[in-house]
Amino acid sequence: MALKICCIGAGYVGGPTMAMIALKAPGIQVTVVDLNATRIAAWNSDTLPIYEPGLDEVVRQVRGRNLHFSTAVAAGIREAEIIFVSVNTPTKTYGVGAGRAADLRYIESVARSIAEHANGPKIIVEKSTIPVKTAETIRDILTANSRGHAFEVLSNPEFLAEGTAVADLTAPDRVLIGGERTPGGEEAIKTLVDVYAHWVPRERIITTNLWSSEMAKLVANAFLAQRISSINSIAALCEATGADVDEVAHAIGRDSRIGPKFLKASVGFGGSCFQKDILNLSYLCEHFGLPEVAAYWESVVRMNDWQKHRFSQRIVSSLYNTVAEKRIAVFGFAFKKDTNDTRESPAIAVCRALLAEQARVVVYDPKVPAPEILEEVVGKGNHEPRLSVAQSAYEAAAGAHAIAVVTEWDEFKTLDFARIQAEMKHPSFLFDGRNILDLPRLRALGFRAHGIGK
Ligand code: NAD
Ligand code: UDX
Repeated sequence: MALKICCIGAGYVGGPTMAMIALKAPGIQVTVVDLNATRIAAWNSDTLPIYEPGLDEVVRQVRGRNLHFSTAVAAGIREAEIIFVSVNTPTKTYGVGAGRAADLRYIESVARSIAEHANGPKIIVEKSTIPVKTAETIRDILTANSRGHAFEVLSNPEFLAEGTAVADLTAPDRVLIGGERTPGGEEAIKTLVDVYAHWVPRERIITTNLWSSEMAKLVANAFLAQRISSINSIAALCEATGADVDEVAHAIGRDSRIGPKFLKASVGFGGSCFQKDILNLSYLCEHFGLPEVAAYWESVVRMNDWQKHRFSQRIVSSLYNTVAEKRIAVFGFAFKKDTNDTRESPAIAVCRALLAEQARVVVYDPKVPAPEILEEVVGKGNHEPRLSVAQSAYEAAAGAHAIAVVTEWDEFKTLDFARIQAEMKHPSFLFDGRNILDLPRLRALGFRAHGIGK
């Protein structure tokens, strides 16, 4: 009998990871379930709910063969031997720990559904990013309701980055599997190792105890985000001194102990993970009586907030300290290129700051639909007459006083800036929040062009 896997949560992680397992292990039957019927319908359609380069092709190959999307959560649980939990774990917005701790209501609700519908032994795999020790909570709920069934809980955090998910899943730096060092735990670890071993070299599959695995996910994101805040802090110093942050990053990145990746100064990091996971880590530190460690990590988020603020302030101060009624074109709204995800995008903070100064803000993004942009900035059901969305970069910039590049979409690099400049107000300003454009060339065209840390 073919091994059956069910994944609860058909989001940015559940969809792509399960599609990759189905592709690489044709003998395994994979079902992804979600309560959100609209999302499941989109996974079953020609327009997938998330934009990810290469994902359409993978899904087209396996959907209907050994990959299925469904809203039948209970049936999915009953039929599978392995159940991945890939639901959202956002920052709590209420009660104790509001604004910092992870909200585990969806994790707990899934654990209760599994306990209710399981009809035999199951391996439960935490795919979501969760606070250390969450496996204990899941196990407690399961065993209290087990009706004699045996459950093993594993931690298998996901390290994919959006925009490169298919490449990351095809050739991961590592796969991490944490489990209990008991005979049952070891057997469950081996079952999951065998799933990944269909395509991941064995030496890239790391096994640890449960708590190390849960912890390593939070720490990986904290270290990555810390590098960005570190280089962004240096960007501010570069602007004050005449050093060029890209040149500094290049010089330090050549030290093999530092390495060149994740040293790109920017308007600030966004995305659903970095801020949430650092705040969660910092909250955990405080919970365990380590306020100094908590403050250390929280400063990474504070630096990021300051960077977003600094970028908008630079626009206002360069435009003679007033942007009231000036048209400002915002190029890009997704939190990074090659995704339609806008969660915690720095564009939100930049748009809000400019609107607070009564600017007229016109946003263009190649993948994010207009209603989503408007809702993210002003909130559902609210209307802001100064905020609008354009269908192209040219339309956004026509008649504008300034352009702010907030997402590093490749198409911005090949725009006809001579044409754009001719159609703008003069003097025309450009603020490259991603350092992707050739500033000397733009200056030669007549732009007052600024980069980050330059
Ligand atoms: P998401 O919001 O895109 O998807 C989560 C899905 O879970 C939603 O579709 C929601 O409807 C569904 N869901 C919630 N409760 C449910 C329930 N009880 N039953 C069935 N479905 C339910 O989230 P995501 O971006 O895929 O992230 C999921 C987890 O993975 C989070 O913990 C996140 O921190 C982690 N993670 C995300 C990324 C990323 O790049 N987005 C990378 C690594 C890890
Ligand atoms: C991140 C982690 O990279 C991934 O391993 C984890 O599983 C989920 O969180 P993601 O948020 O999807 O992935 O994208 P990432 O490439 O890490 O970028 C995060 C943010 O940092 C983006 O806004 C990006 O533009 C910004 N960034 C990244 C920089 O500003 N500079 C850099 O050098 C790198």
